[in-house]
Amino acid sequence: MNFHVLTLFPEMIRQGMNTSIIGRAIAGGLLSVDSVNIRDFAFNKHQKVDDYPYGGGAGMLMQAEPVYLAWESIKEKIGYKPRVIYLTPQGKVFNQKMAKEFAAEKDLVFLCGHYEGIDERVLEEVVTDYVSIGDYVLTGGELPAMVMIDSISRMVPGVLTNKESGETESFSGNLLEYPQYSRPEEWHGKKVPPVLMSGHHANIEAWRREQSVLRTAKWRPDLLKQADLTNKEWNQVRQWKKQWREENSKE
Ligand code: ADE
Repeated sequence: MNFHVLTLFPEMIRQGMNTSIIGRAIAGGLLSVDSVNIRDFAFNKHQKVDDYPYGGGAGMLMQAEPVYLAWESIKEKIGYKPRVIYLTPQGKVFNQKMAKEFAAEKDLVFLCGHYEGIDERVLEEVVTDYVSIGDYVLTGGELPAMVMIDSISRMVPGVLTNKESGETESFSGNLLEYPQYSRPEEWHGKKVPPVLMSGHHANIEAWRREQSVLRTAKWRPDLLKQADLTNKEWNQVRQWKKQWREENSKE
C-alpha cells in the first residue's frame, strides 16, 4: 500500500509516520508514505501558494495550480488516477468500515489543506473522497491524514503481527472491545475477573461477548442498532438500561 500526501508541511508527515507499527511496516516494505511538498510546484519565484479569496472574507486560500501540478506528479509516477482524499470538516465522517475499504487500494492520495481551504476548481478536478475525522475544526489536514493512514495501515494484511487483533477489537461487529487484564492477579485491591483465570474457553468467550455488549450499551448506545445482537442480548440490554435509570433516579 502506497500513501502519497500532498502537503505544505512534509516534515510533519515524515516525522509522524516513522515510529512504532507504521514505521516497522514501512521498513519491512509493506507500506510507503511519500510526502509531496505542494510548495515545490509553486509557479512564482517566491514559491507562494496562497492568495486572497475572490469576494472577500477572512484568510487566504491555497491556489489551484500548485495543487494540480503536485497531484499530476503523483499520477504520472504511478501511471494511473488514484483515489484522492481531501481532508475537510465538511466530509463524510471517517470510521472503521471506511478504513477497511481504503485498505484495499494500491495507492491513496491525501490532500491536506491549510489557511481557509483550497480553490474549489482544483478540488472538483482531482478529489474523489471528502473525509472528516470528526466534528471539530483543525488548523490543517496533516493530522487527519496521519490519523487515517494509521488506521488504514492496520487493516493492510501483514502490518499487525497478531492476525486476530484486526478483527477482535472495538467496532468489529459494531461493538466495543471487552476489558482486558494482565499480571498481577490483584492490583490496588482489584482482582482479575475469576472467569478469565478458569481456563474454560467457552465461558471466557461468553463473558467477553457480554462485556462488549455492556460497554457498548453504556458508552456508545448509538452503535447497538447496527450490532448483531441476539434476542437474549437485547433483553439483557433492556434490563441494564432499566437498572441504570433506577440508579440515576436515586442519585
Ligand atoms: N481539516 C480541518 N479540520 C478537519 C477535520 N475535522 N477532519 C478532516 N480534515 C480537517
